[in-house]
Amino acid sequence: MVEQGEYDRWERVVAELQREIEEKERALYSAKVLQQARNPQYLARMEAPDAQAVVTGWCGDTMEIYLRLNGTAIQGATFMTDGCSPSVACGNMLATMVQAMTLDEATEVQPEDLILALDGLPEENSHCAQLAVDTLRQAIANIDRNTRCETDERDRLEDDDR
Ligand code: FES
Repeated sequence: MVEQGEYDRWERVVAELQREIEEKERALYSAKVLQQARNPQYLARMEAPDAQAVVTGWCGDTMEIYLRLNGTAIQGATFMTDGCSPSVACGNMLATMVQAMTLDEATEVQPEDLILALDGLPEENSHCAQLAVDTLRQAIANIDRNTRCETDERDRLEDDDR
């Protein structure tokens, strides 16, 4: 059985480690990055999305993006990632930015726009923004492909009827 004194000592060690980690994060990342990473409003897989993509970056981390559409307008966007804190911040900020954008507008979003919206990212994390943007673009490209497939299938069925 663990003595109360031993338990208290471990609690103090854990609290101290937590404080050190938070201090290091504050030195590395902007307040916006930390806020987005700690409270990601759009971190969720979407049920029956109209479009989605999963992309693994060169760092080995994966980003998933889900879109709900109303015609060519984005009605909702969510994301999931197994990546670093900045990747959570990038996914959440990107999902925030594209809510109510058209697909064309969303395709134009650049990693630099995302980094600017996050009040900056360390250079070594710029690829996290690239991964989020690449995944969004892939999700949009998948819509085009799905639409093309449906159109091709419809044309084929119409040809069969003739
Ligand atoms: Fe891989 Fe950030 S280190 S997404």
